[in-house]
Amino acid sequence: MPGLDSRLAETLDAIAAAAREDDGTDPLDEATRLALAHRAEDELTVWLAGPDGDDAFALLVDDDLTLVTRPAARGQGWAAMLLAEVTAVTEGEGLTAWSHGDHPAAVRLAEEFGFTRARDLWVMRLPDLTDLPPLEVPDGIRVRGYVESDAAEVLRINAAAFADHPEQGRMDADDLARRMAEDWFDPAGLLVAEDVVAGGSGGSGGSGDAARGTLLGFHWTKLPRGSAAGAGRRTGEVYVVGIDPAAQGRGLGRLLTLAGLHHLRERGATDVELYVEGDNHAAQRTYSRLGFLHAAADTHVQYRRG
Ligand SMILES: CC(C)(COP(=O)(O)OP(=O)(O)OC[C@H]1O[C@@H](n2cnc3c(N)ncnc32)[C@H](O)[C@@H]1OP(=O)(O)O)[C@@H](O)C(=O)NCCC(=O)NCCS
Repeated sequence: MPGLDSRLAETLDAIAAAAREDDGTDPLDEATRLALAHRAEDELTVWLAGPDGDDAFALLVDDDLTLVTRPAARGQGWAAMLLAEVTAVTEGEGLTAWSHGDHPAAVRLAEEFGFTRARDLWVMRLPDLTDLPPLEVPDGIRVRGYVESDAAEVLRINAAAFADHPEQGRMDADDLARRMAEDWFDPAGLLVAEDVVAGGSGGSGGSGDAARGTLLGFHWTKLPRGSAAGAGRRTGEVYVVGIDPAAQGRGLGRLLTLAGLHHLRERGATDVELYVEGDNHAAQRTYSRLGFLHAAADTHVQYRRG
């Protein structure tokens, strides 16, 4: 069975949960959580710190480091101690580490241990879904939910659209299957746009029975399971939007993003968030035109060493 032994996993979970509650951001991002769930124990290296070994941890998966100190134990040098151990073991190798929420302590540690700021990841938020613009699908285009036979096309478009993206562009059939095995996955929330004129024999975009066409792009929405609408806020996510490079600049990014927002609202989302690279101006423009906002402090920073 992959993963860490259960007591160690519980310790990591408890430290991360305490940090999440205080910081308002999760120190374990999706890639790290998937690694904890699916990687073998010998692919995960953990260091613990504190008088009882439960105040701070460092977790190394490949070259990506996660470093978390329980809020009550901060300012006592635990993170610096862990980082000294990790950098001693990995001396000469590349290392990356995300600071979720651009934490000031991470800025100091990065300076001290020779890391440089490599990437900014923005969180953008749409705080209210009540006044979405209406969805107008142009003739010749159909927007529908994902079916299994779309997998190869979704992977092709994803690889082409994210060719320069260090993580998303590498998604293969196994990664896709793993993400689809998550409990939040809903095929109806993975919206695809297809060109029914080019690929279909009789479809004009409206009928559900018309022949299937060429896929032009997709918008994978995410609505975590949890509180039902009415019990408070329920935050949906623009998980991934990818448009075939040959079809970019035709309004499909806006169309699919908006279609996904309508879908999330129908399923009970009250607000929506997303993550986008700090230098992805096309995506930022698409999202801000639909009302998404970015606050300067709402930025995750990737540090790199070596
Ligand atoms: C970002 C992306 C989804 C936009 O899709 P698109 O179909 O090309 O965008 P649209 O034609 O709907 O344009 C939406 C807005 O973005 C603007 N835009 C499009 N390309 C742009 C570019 N290269 N630079 C700046 N603005 C750009 C458009 O002008 C439009 O704004 P406007 O309404 O003010 O004119 C698409 O470029 C893409 O798939 N990129 C690669 C993957 C990615 O980065 N996805 C988003 C991160 S999850």
